[in-house]
Amino acid sequence: MPDTTGGHDRETAAIAGMSDPSETLHYEMNRRGGSPVLVGRAAEMAALQAAFGAVGQGGPAALLIGGEAGVGKTRLISEFAAEARAAGARVLIGGCLELGADGLPFGPFTAMLRDLVREIGADELIGLLPGSDRAVRELARLLPELAGGQPAGDSAGPLHSAGEARARLFEEFLTLLERLAVAQPLVLVVEDAHWADRSSRDLIAFLIGYQRALANVLIAVTFRSDELHRTHPLRPLLAELTRIDWVERTELPRLSRGQAEELAAAVLGGFADRALTDRLYERAEGNPLFTEELLACPDGCALIPDSLADLLQQVVRRLPEDTQEVLRIASAASGATSPTLLARVTGKTEDELTAAIRPAVTGNVLVTTTDGYGFRHALIREAVHEDLLPGEHSQVHTKFALAIDADAALVGDGRADMEKAHHWYAAHNTTWALISAWQASMQASRSVAHAERLVLLARVLELWDQVPDAAERVGADHVRVLEESAAAARDAGEHKRGLAFTESALAELDELTDPVRVALLLSERHMFHRELGMPETLEDLDRALSLVPEELDKKARTRLLLAASHFGCHEGGPHFRERANEALRFAREAGDRDAEAQALAMLAVIEAGPLGVAEPGSETFRLSAQARAIAQQVGAYQSIIKLVIYESHLLCGVGEYERAAMVAREGIADAERHGLARTRGAFLAINVAEPLLYLGRWDEALDVAERALDLAPPWSTRCSLSILSGSIALARGDTATAARLAAASREMLAGVRYEDQKNLPQAVLDIGLALATEGPAAAVAVATEALHEYDLSGSSSRYVWPVLVIAAAVARQASGEAAESLLCRLRTLAEKQDVCGPVQRAWQLSYQAVDPRADDDAAADPAARLAAADAAVAAWEAIDQPYPAALALVGAAQVALAGGPSGRVAAAARLRRAAPLADRLGARPLSDQIAALLAQAAGPATGQGTGARQDRLGLTGREIEVLRLVTAGQSNREIAAALFISPKTASVHVSNILAKLGAATRTEAAARAHALRLLDAAEGSR
Ligand SMILES: Nc1ncnc2c1ncn2[C@@H]1O[C@H](COP(=O)(O)OP(=O)(O)O)[C@@H](O)[C@H]1O
Ligand SMILES: [Mg+2]
Repeated sequence: MPDTTGGHDRETAAIAGMSDPSETLHYEMNRRGGSPVLVGRAAEMAALQAAFGAVGQGGPAALLIGGEAGVGKTRLISEFAAEARAAGARVLIGGCLELGADGLPFGPFTAMLRDLVREIGADELIGLLPGSDRAVRELARLLPELAGGQPAGDSAGPLHSAGEARARLFEEFLTLLERLAVAQPLVLVVEDAHWADRSSRDLIAFLIGYQRALANVLIAVTFRSDELHRTHPLRPLLAELTRIDWVERTELPRLSRGQAEELAAAVLGGFADRALTDRLYERAEGNPLFTEELLACPDGCALIPDSLADLLQQVVRRLPEDTQEVLRIASAASGATSPTLLARVTGKTEDELTAAIRPAVTGNVLVTTTDGYGFRHALIREAVHEDLLPGEHSQVHTKFALAIDADAALVGDGRADMEKAHHWYAAHNTTWALISAWQASMQASRSVAHAERLVLLARVLELWDQVPDAAERVGADHVRVLEESAAAARDAGEHKRGLAFTESALAELDELTDPVRVALLLSERHMFHRELGMPETLEDLDRALSLVPEELDKKARTRLLLAASHFGCHEGGPHFRERANEALRFAREAGDRDAEAQALAMLAVIEAGPLGVAEPGSETFRLSAQARAIAQQVGAYQSIIKLVIYESHLLCGVGEYERAAMVAREGIADAERHGLARTRGAFLAINVAEPLLYLGRWDEALDVAERALDLAPPWSTRCSLSILSGSIALARGDTATAARLAAASREMLAGVRYEDQKNLPQAVLDIGLALATEGPAAAVAVATEALHEYDLSGSSSRYVWPVLVIAAAVARQASGEAAESLLCRLRTLAEKQDVCGPVQRAWQLSYQAVDPRADDDAAADPAARLAAADAAVAAWEAIDQPYPAALALVGAAQVALAGGPSGRVAAAARLRRAAPLADRLGARPLSDQIAALLAQAAGPATGQGTGARQDRLGLTGREIEVLRLVTAGQSNREIAAALFISPKTASVHVSNILAKLGAATRTEAAARAHALRLLDAAEGSR
């Protein structure tokens, strides 16, 4: 890693050693360095050390360090880096460079990878990665030399969406860090993020956001806070990051007067006189860089320059003319420049160049780094560059562009196109700026740098009219550039701009001469409208299809058909089925397996109809399985994941919980295979956790949810997982946790579009929570409010039934007008609900058991009421849902008890069935209620509880499972793998178990488990 602060002396000496001694002597007088000691910064160093300590403990930690230019951000980081290295850490530093709006995509990360390859070698780096081939192809997007000349990216598979390719690259990078951090702690530093390109900003956000998945990695980001104007793109990122728990933002202040004096003394090697330090502080105001530069003035700063830029220019102007000339040229380069490139551009031999540069190195203006020569501080480069005359400016950039054009190897692999685009543009050479921007946009596309690609394409469009033969020059017409721009905008998520490009392209085309292009653009426009939340119509797609009949272009028609049937497949109808069938036929004729899988998937959805209900073995499942098999064969991940989500959702809807969880788990494994475990896999966790919840495997469901939450998934995933975990906490009587989770998900839902599958489970949780904490009347109020807020008439009955049941239950417990009118409203809704499949049937029966007045006859007849309650019990038992079954049993017992002493036996029988269910779930409030009712059923004298907990020392079912593995001698990692939980969770379980058993070690715990026969007992209760 280049060290840009201390330690120049060695390098300087090395260079000086090669030179003519008399010259060395001459410059020796001017030679200067910074302060050998770090002045102040105790608090900041402590913060870095604390964060480093925190990651050592397994927690995530990231620091955002702002401060003006020259205040000492780099110095602070280097001092800390040296300490961390001494403590055994690996430090990766990548700096962002000022390259205008067209920053090299992923610049800092490419630099880190390059340094890493230099340090450990490409082979070792590749060896660190699982699924090396794919991983290497991905990482080669950042560092092409990694792939040894092969094209970057996963070119083998079928069309991957751009977002997917990028997600995969991000995950591979994360995995690399994870692997590196196994052997030693890792410190990752991104310097000068105010210049970061958008791709780098995205990757920073990703790494910090997913940092919980990274043990032993500290992330630090520095930036010039004084340059963050109101619309600076780094601002929103900083705001987003500071909201994360483990992220801390600090602002590096200038030095105090005392510290500035200390700095002066350190630089001068003794105390400076008072007058000088006063003047110094007055001018430099505690900025260390300014202080150092002033101290370097030979005249003791008699002539005080107006600004730091002037000061820095003065420093440079004191160097020999030849040296200044080289510096002016070097100032046009982006970052450090190799001696060979600098020699070419200056027209010198390398020896001449070394001689010319020597005074700049001695004078501490330039420093040598592994990449070549670089300015000691970016401000010096800026000052020198500003000093260039306009004519000189273009000339210098032209020289760079020509040199790189003649020999691309002069800059890093994959950088030549971007560098040329930058230099030609800066040189105001319109023709070559246009051509090179076009070429660089292709390179950006390979690097999945969509935003940069968009910037470059926008430049091509901007320059287009100024270059008479632009189309011939780039080999593409204007519309093609617009189409590419629209695609880049789509990939970069800039839908408004994408729509504008599409409209412009459409305006330039004539559908009579170019029907296919027009049609595809219409389909794009439809997609942009949808993404922008504009009213969706089928008009564009219909017109597109009419423009491209089969005989004109089958492939394009297939694409259009898929788009059209996708749009309407949930509504169903013969129209969409026809289109999907046609797409299927074309795909098969053309041997396009990916399209075939998509068409089959669409047909599956259409088959399930607008209610979205299908049983295993139905046509929907047959089609879906067929589609999934094909998608698996060709590695069409998009299709696989959609199908997996869809199938598990359907299975869960019809009570096939085991299978639903299994399918979703397979999906997670697929996501892992495709390098997308964190981004795409986390969503699937919902579809694993939900059926587990229903099956009463609550600990497992919680583990899955927690593991997914560790990956910091998008808000919608987090929201569903929060609701799910909250409802388990509530059922277990942990109202504090339930309230916290409910509040979290409620906040996430505020202000976003209503969705049955989120808002309604939230309502159920809120009602239950109100009942537990404030009683029935409050719960009635919450339920009434929910019904008032949501118009449930158009909602899916799958999500409405649970609301109706809990609302009816609380209304029955409360009394008074509000409860009555709520019941009235519920009855109307209940009558209108669909009852598709066994789960909805069970809900309906529960509803009828809770509110029998919906049926007059039953209300009058206690036997019929008991029968209704028992029917609900049977329905829940049939689909293996223990918790609702236990609730229904309690409901039945209450009905029986209401019939007077004669009902006691019937009540006790049902309660005794309910008790083990509630106990096993750890649903304490329900266990307590059962115990109380049993006492009532037994008559006034006895009060024996059956809520009696099993004699397992309070170990939960999950803990027993973990204990079994501990006893078998497995490590936390092995336990995690076996139980599909994170190692962290496994370790939490183990420490809880040790505590409950009063054991100090795992061996002791195992011995105790044997002695107490805990595992034998648990076997029977499983
Ligand atoms: N606390 C400090 N003690 C001693 N020297 C410092 C201190 N802070 C900065 N410097 C020196 O001031 C100069 C500018 O600091 P640098 O870290 O490059 O600033 P920044 O990265 O914030 O722009 C460097 O030469 C550095 O060594
Ligand atoms: Mg710096």
